[in-house]
Amino acid sequence: MMLLLLLSGLAMSIAAPIDQCNLDTVAIAGGTYKVSEDGEQVEYSCPKGKYPFPSATRECQGNGQWTNEKQKAICKAVECPKPVMFEGGEIAPRKAKYFVDDVLYFECWGGFTMFGPENRTCQENGKWSGETTICDDQDGHCPSPGIPIGASKVGTSYRIEGKVSYDCQNGLRMFGSKTRECKENKRWSGSEPSCRTAYTYDSPEEVAEVFGSSLAETIESSDPDRVEDKSDRKLQVKTGGLMNIFLIIDASKSVGVKNFNTAKNIATTFIEKVSSFDFTPRYSVLTYASHIKRIVTLSESEINTEAETVIDAIKRFKYSEHDDKQGTNTRGALQEVYNQLSLDQLRNDKFLEHSNIIILMTDGKHNMGGDPSVEVNKIREFLDIRKDQREDKLDIYVFGLGEDISQDELNDIASKKDREKHVFQMENIDALKKAFDEIIDETSAFEMCGLSKDHSEEDTKDNNEKYPWIAKLTITRPGGVESCKGSIVTKNFILTAAHCFHLDDEAHFVNVELGPSERAKVTRKVKNIHRHPKYDPNGKKDKNIPKFFEYDLALVELSQKVDFSSTVRPICLPCTSGTSWAIKQRDKAASCKDHENFLLSKDLVKALFISEKSKNNLEQMTVHIKQGNSRLGCLKDAEKVEEFKDVVDIKDAVTDNFLCTGGIDPSVDPQTCKGDSGGPLIIQHGKRYIQVGVISWGTVNSCKGYKRERVPATSRDFHASVIPGMAWIEEIIKDELIYLK
Ligand SMILES: *[C@@H]1O[C@H](CO)[C@@H](O)[C@H](O)[C@H]1NC(C)=O
Repeated sequence: MMLLLLLSGLAMSIAAPIDQCNLDTVAIAGGTYKVSEDGEQVEYSCPKGKYPFPSATRECQGNGQWTNEKQKAICKAVECPKPVMFEGGEIAPRKAKYFVDDVLYFECWGGFTMFGPENRTCQENGKWSGETTICDDQDGHCPSPGIPIGASKVGTSYRIEGKVSYDCQNGLRMFGSKTRECKENKRWSGSEPSCRTAYTYDSPEEVAEVFGSSLAETIESSDPDRVEDKSDRKLQVKTGGLMNIFLIIDASKSVGVKNFNTAKNIATTFIEKVSSFDFTPRYSVLTYASHIKRIVTLSESEINTEAETVIDAIKRFKYSEHDDKQGTNTRGALQEVYNQLSLDQLRNDKFLEHSNIIILMTDGKHNMGGDPSVEVNKIREFLDIRKDQREDKLDIYVFGLGEDISQDELNDIASKKDREKHVFQMENIDALKKAFDEIIDETSAFEMCGLSKDHSEEDTKDNNEKYPWIAKLTITRPGGVESCKGSIVTKNFILTAAHCFHLDDEAHFVNVELGPSERAKVTRKVKNIHRHPKYDPNGKKDKNIPKFFEYDLALVELSQKVDFSSTVRPICLPCTSGTSWAIKQRDKAASCKDHENFLLSKDLVKALFISEKSKNNLEQMTVHIKQGNSRLGCLKDAEKVEEFKDVVDIKDAVTDNFLCTGGIDPSVDPQTCKGDSGGPLIIQHGKRYIQVGVISWGTVNSCKGYKRERVPATSRDFHASVIPGMAWIEEIIKDELIYLK
């Protein structure tokens, strides 16, 4: 054993390069550097507004020399591209060089109108802030395509079929389209070019915004029911179309296991976010080095629409599964996409209706397999993309990481569309992760039920956007003031408990607050209180039940509708199409019964309610709905309630139309308190929230104000079950929800 260890140790030291590169030569003037653990790589950092020259890293080469060893490293001041040409106006000041914080001012000549900012500032990443400023006389068929700073333009005809072409100043690389043509629809072909320096990276914020809105456009345009609304390009997916999403992750040697895991993480974040919207794409996930590995393919129809399964498969995949990592076979990866599409065409009669999104993440240029753009052209031809109207069926987004990429290669692969961007160059994988964390901000899809902004990571203090469906009702009677909770179900209706109101309460006694805290508060008066017709507290006096709460449901109709926002949004109700989307039962012609089976079939169902921890400070409480045999304990504890001491059969008081939580098995459920009445009992599915109950009454009340005492074991809470009330809800709210039978 000992010997073996020694031997293997020896073998190791022989295999390792003896020629370590000399660290004395790597220091950077004006900055700092880090050496990797194996001593083979140096990474430079410079203060803000500076960048490492000649490169951000150095590798120790086989000959014992660093890359670029002869050139001394230095932190140079970041420069933004210099304006070369401008049309229809003037740029000032004209200088030889522009550094960070320098400002350019634009002015248009008479007869020309300005589009874009009047001034632009040189940013730390070497880009001018904002979009290209354009002075346009609006005389052409197409609007003036503008001239990006750093570029020159040839071609001045903006008539149909007029062509323009661009060149970047020396030393700058072009992203986007070199030539563009004015099309009949008054748009230019391709995408706006930009000229950038080698050290220019897209910031996470820029990527989140630009990629997010481009992606939103794509997803939205796949929606057959979409309503044109150009004012807001953010995601507003209501019913999704058919879509394939290909995720391609570079797993070559330079990526390394840590970055590869971050890339996996980015892929799963992306899928999670996309899956919280009302549409179900098919995923294909592959990784590549010299060879291609398939994690999920387009033909695995049982799993490729299940976000959770796809995420699991990605998580299980190991970097080490690429045993030969030397190559970067980008073309091979795109060829695999082509192959999967070809196969799908044979099996899928809706093939041509699918839009396709390809997302490629890479940190290098291809070094085998040949030119990847050949495969892109094959895919385009195969999907019949060349006809303009099918351009929206394919979007290829490319994310280049670090400085070893080839900007030209990535630009060739990426889609080029007017007013969109598909190629991004980021400093490193962490920057990309940050961008993806921000993409598809949930707040934009306000109309979708049961969605809230995810605050899992940041400021948990501000719960305004976490429980946006909670409503607070204040009932001011001649005799005093009481308050209840409710849930927003549509723009005009709040669902709450009928017992919150006396039979003679009038609508004007009630005030509704929406938006959980002071800061976000919206208030409404009430037009009408609708109680469930079967709610009759005195209905079972003959059975010695002094107060009977079955169908403890009421709908409060607002005097004026509310506009949904990030802090005021609806919850999902079962038996509506919104819930079908939320639980992804769209394709199965889901019925109300399907929802019930999905949500409430187990003996113990994890659920939650929202309680006020202190004034305006909401808190989520996890409880378990007890059903089947687990429910027997609920009935036993209900029998112990003083008011029910003369009840012969407790099931007369606690009918099947109540959901029960509380008790201490399998864990102690927190108790609802008085002010919680009328609030929703919720089941969470992924990022979506579905209301199954309305908080009605409990066996024990040990709350003191906001404080919860230790809960006795016999404490049970009963909630009016929403599903049996849905027929009535449909009667009252006919138009604002789509119901299932
Ligand atoms: C740039 O223009 C905006 C208005 O478009 C103005 O508010 C801002 O003050 C200007 N900045 C500078 C530095 O002039």
